[in-house]
Amino acid sequence: MKVHNVSLKISAVRPEQYPDEGYPEIGLVGRSNVGKSSLINRLINRKSYARTSSQPGKTQTLNFYDVESMLYLVDVPGYGYAKVSKAEREKWGRMIETYLTQRETLRGVVSLIDARHEPTELDVQMVEFLHYYELPILVVATKIDKVSRSKWNKVEKDIKKKIKIEEQDELILFSATEKIGEEEVWNWIEKRTKI
Ligand code: GTP
Ligand code: MG
Repeated sequence: MKVHNVSLKISAVRPEQYPDEGYPEIGLVGRSNVGKSSLINRLINRKSYARTSSQPGKTQTLNFYDVESMLYLVDVPGYGYAKVSKAEREKWGRMIETYLTQRETLRGVVSLIDARHEPTELDVQMVEFLHYYELPILVVATKIDKVSRSKWNKVEKDIKKKIKIEEQDELILFSATEKIGEEEVWNWIEKRTKI
């Protein structure tokens, strides 16, 4: 999809603040710094509309991006960032859990995994959680530009094995900087949201 019109509708922390147009919605989850905001920027064809940072913990609210008044892409705060306090992490955890379990218009979740490293225990738990709630999952291995092409098959195999990917889940190798996998991600989103 070629995106022309996009706006940040709201940065929400509570369900009462979620937009209520009823557009189909896709959430993006993953560790801090894995590249969620960068993926959104690539999808909407903007350099830095969603704020990114080399410092983890940049996105701290649920950011709802209205795309062509047809769907919402939701940038979810990253998990696993050790430097925030335990209380803060628990607060984020509740916010993410509430969103993923209660949002009726949520049609699927993109789960981002850093292609350079083995999936972490939290990555595994997140995918298990999404399976439990029967949310359709697209696993995206990010920063694949940092991995030599000869290792791409291995990356795919290792991720599938570690996170116990299921029959209906899909996996895409992706790079925001090198524009790899963008079309495949859009195809999955279009299929899930029926836009
Ligand atoms: P939080 O908001 O902290 O949870 O992080 P995030 O998941 O939104 O990550 P963000 O998009 O801010 O990216 C983190 C860092 O990784 C930035 O320095 C990006 O430039 C870099 N990055 C993101 N995607 C890619 C990619 O595909 N390739 C490379 N080489 N770097 C990337
Ligand atoms: Mg971010």
